[in-house]
Amino acid sequence: MRNNKAPSSNSSRCRELREIDFKHLWHPFTQQQDWFAADPLIIERGEGVELIDICGRRYLDGVSSLWCNVHGHGVPELRAALHEQVDALCHSTLLGLSHVPVLELTQRLVPLLPKPLERVFYSDSGSAAVEAAIRMSIEWWQKQGGAASRKTKLVSLFSGYHGDTLGSVGLGYLPAFHRALSPVVVQSLKVNPPHVLRYERGLCAEDALSQSLAEAEQLLAGQQDEIAAFFIEPIVQGAAGIWVQPLEYLQEIVRLCRKHHVLLIADEVATGFGKTGKMFACEHASVEPDIMVIGKGLSAGYLPISAACASEQIFSGFLGEPEKGKTFFFGQTFSGNPLAAKVAAANLDYFAKNRVLEKLPQRIAHFARELRAKAACLSHVFEVRSFGLMAGIELTKTPGTWIPYALNERAGSRIVAAARNKGAIIRPLGNVMVLMPALAMNEEQLSRLVNIAVQAVAEALGE
Ligand SMILES: Cc1ncc(COP(=O)(O)O)c(C=O)c1O
Repeated sequence: MRNNKAPSSNSSRCRELREIDFKHLWHPFTQQQDWFAADPLIIERGEGVELIDICGRRYLDGVSSLWCNVHGHGVPELRAALHEQVDALCHSTLLGLSHVPVLELTQRLVPLLPKPLERVFYSDSGSAAVEAAIRMSIEWWQKQGGAASRKTKLVSLFSGYHGDTLGSVGLGYLPAFHRALSPVVVQSLKVNPPHVLRYERGLCAEDALSQSLAEAEQLLAGQQDEIAAFFIEPIVQGAAGIWVQPLEYLQEIVRLCRKHHVLLIADEVATGFGKTGKMFACEHASVEPDIMVIGKGLSAGYLPISAACASEQIFSGFLGEPEKGKTFFFGQTFSGNPLAAKVAAANLDYFAKNRVLEKLPQRIAHFARELRAKAACLSHVFEVRSFGLMAGIELTKTPGTWIPYALNERAGSRIVAAARNKGAIIRPLGNVMVLMPALAMNEEQLSRLVNIAVQAVAEALGE
């Protein structure tokens, strides 16, 4: 294992960039006090599945640049598409206009979507597309009129994550993050997914599944006249800590939504574009949502673009003369930006041409084997969870039982620092170390990533 500490990190350019960062930058989801105390990692280039910092040190991109990179960095076909589009048109709006790259993307995207989804509403981030889905679902019922217009409540899973705008925060409200916003956030109704009942109430897998479904049924049956939609991250609850749900859970939730006239909205921002081994996680359970939200990997993680994809039934609820008030008044300046759309179309071509999905089963099996063989046996690892190329290593302070590290012990950041020194970028979610490689990572690189993560955990937690 190489030592990734480079002597050049004190060059004048490094010092200057670090100074600008410390003086003027405000990093998202980052405690700046800790950031100031550490040696900041400043990335300059990406090549394949590696990121390269300003001092020339290389790191495996172990979280695919926040779960969005798909085929690696600097893929020639994607770069070429971007260059071509830069020369033609960098931006034009979709408000009352259309443009070629977004149409070419839509032509490729729609055949890949679950069957009833034929209308694509583009946005520029996962959060904004979730916001679009929230509004579509509530407004759709409103536009039906009569008793249906009482359906304004949303349901989501306890500890789910759907984004950071105020509407999407309501779906994934967490007291630790959002307490200060509670007076202005409209919180959704929450139901416990099976893992919460297993881990927090000690139920066996079978009882947790049936009880979580009973809970959902009770809520939907009791308030179906007021509930517009059920939001779910299908199969894998990502930001909650890579929790994997049984396929039956999703299938039953869909059945319950149909029975109680509630729209089912699948948030595939994290799970989409191959991360679970199929193009979309819904496919594992043969589920067809009313609206599906996509983002991150849509442009292979190169440029910001997202979408809320809706069925024709939802779309037609918004048709009518302008004075009837059916127009969907939502959108952003950069919704469906041509540069991002062009790269996204090239991304889908790359999937098809290189048969990317066909190569995944072997890589996924290798990744799972490596994780279970190497990480699961560490004494400070409580559990290793993975589905596709999404993996979480749940830590425990006390071997053999589930005692999360306290925030002031900085377990996650100590592991991150150790992994960096060994040549990989990983990122914790609370007490869970997440590994989410690009689909492009080959078996040797996957093994290297797991080895580094395991050694970093062992070194930081004193194995
Ligand atoms: C399931 C899910 N939905 C929505 C979002 C928000 O996406 P964005 O960060 O692009 O706004 C995320 C981001 O991680 C996510 O995991």
